[in-house]
Amino acid sequence: MTGTSLRTPLDVPTLDELRRRTSVKWRAFDPDVLPLFVAEMDVAPCEPVVDAVTAAMRAGDTGYDHGTVYGEAYARFAERRWGWSFDPSTTRTLPDVMVAIVEVLRVLTGPGDAVVVNPPVYPPFFGFVRNEGRRVVTAPLGADLRLDLDALERAFAEATGVADHGGGPRSGRRAVWLVCNPHNPTGTAHAPDELAAGLALAARYGVRVVADEIHAPITRPGLAGHPATTHTPLLTVPGSDDAVAVVSASKAFNLPGIKAAAAVGGPGAVADLRRIPEEASHGVHHVAVLAHVAALDHGDAWLDAVLAGVERNAWLLADLLAEHLPGVRYRPGEATYLAWLDCRDLAGPAGGSTVPDGARSPAADPRAWFLDRARVALEDGRRFGPGGEGHVRLNLATNVDVLTEAVVRIGASLAR
Ligand SMILES: Cc1ncc(COP(=O)(O)O)c(C=O)c1O
Repeated sequence: MTGTSLRTPLDVPTLDELRRRTSVKWRAFDPDVLPLFVAEMDVAPCEPVVDAVTAAMRAGDTGYDHGTVYGEAYARFAERRWGWSFDPSTTRTLPDVMVAIVEVLRVLTGPGDAVVVNPPVYPPFFGFVRNEGRRVVTAPLGADLRLDLDALERAFAEATGVADHGGGPRSGRRAVWLVCNPHNPTGTAHAPDELAAGLALAARYGVRVVADEIHAPITRPGLAGHPATTHTPLLTVPGSDDAVAVVSASKAFNLPGIKAAAAVGGPGAVADLRRIPEEASHGVHHVAVLAHVAALDHGDAWLDAVLAGVERNAWLLADLLAEHLPGVRYRPGEATYLAWLDCRDLAGPAGGSTVPDGARSPAADPRAWFLDRARVALEDGRRFGPGGEGHVRLNLATNVDVLTEAVVRIGASLAR
C-alpha cells in the first residue's frame, strides 16, 4: 500500500462538510449514497484562487474579460510543467472546454462532416458533436486501452470517404480527429510516438487534429517507487503544425463551477482560430479567468500535493479491490483522477436476485448494482460508447475514508 498516512488537500474536507456542497456531485443522490461519479474533486480550494476571487469581488473587478491573459498564464504553466512554449498572443479565450471544442469544430468542418473519437471516451464528445450536425465516427481504443492505429486509419478513411489515400492529393471530405489527451475515462497518457503516428495518419487523410487537454496537469508524481508519468502536449509533437489544443485549469484545480478555457493553435492553425467569431467570447466569465490565472501562476505546490493524493488513492484502490472485489480488473491509469473498472467478470451472490431496475448481475449492470445494493454512485461505462459495457468509472479525487468505505460497501453487496 502507498502511504495512506499521507495528508493532502484531498484529506481536508470531512464528509459532513462535503455534503453541504450544492453542486451536482452532492445533490444528485440521496444523502446515504457515496458519490464517486462526476469529475469534481473533494478538495479544499487552492488558496491563491480564493484570494484572487475575493480580491476581484472586493475591487469590483466583475466586468467583461479582455485580451489573452488566460493564454499567457497557461503558457507560463506549460513551460514550467512540460517545457512547452507557444505564443499566447495567438490563443483564444473561450467560456469552457466543450464550447471551445465546438467553436473549433465549426471552423474546421461543416454540417455532415465527421469527427473521429476514440471510445470509450468522455460522453459529451458524442452529444456536442451530433448537436452541431457533425457525424461521429469511432476508432475504439485497443484492448490495452491505448490508441489503435489500424482502427484510427479505418475511421479516417470512413470519415473522409477516401478508402486508400496513398500519397496523392487530398480529395476527401473535411474531418477532425478529436483526441482526449490524456484520455478520460481510462487515464491513458498518450505517448509522443503514439501521437506522432496518429498525426501522420491524419495528415495522410487530410484530417485535422484537435486535442482536449483538460486533464493534462493530472499525472502521477511517482510515489513509493512507482514510476512517474507525464503528459505530452499535442503541439510539442512533430506533425502538429496545424493542430489545435484546448486547455484549461478546470479539472486540475477543481474549478468546473467557474469555467474557462483557451484554444491554442500550431502555426498552421492560427488563422483558423482567428476565424472563430467574436461572439464566441461573449460567454467568457472574467472572474473565472482570474481564478484560473491565479491557479496556473501560483498553484503548483497545491497541485503537486493533490497529485500525490490522487496517486496514493489509485494504488489504495488497487489494494482494496484485490481484497474486497477480486473480480474487478483495474490498473491505475497514468493520468486523470479517474479509475476505469472492468466488472465483466464480477460474480454476484450465489443465486443472486434481481433489483428493481433490472440489473440481474453486477457484471451486466455494475452501475445499477452498486447504486442499489451498495449505495455508491459511479458512472455507467455504457455512456462512454463502445467498449464501455460492463465497466464503471470511479472518481479517485476523494479522501481515504470515503474511498475505502465505497469499496467495502460494494464488496459487501456482492457477498449478500
Ligand atoms: C475530457 C473532458 N473534456 C471536457 C470536460 C468538461 O469541460 P468544461 O466544463 O470546461 O466544458 C471534461 C469534464 O470532466 C472532460 O473530462
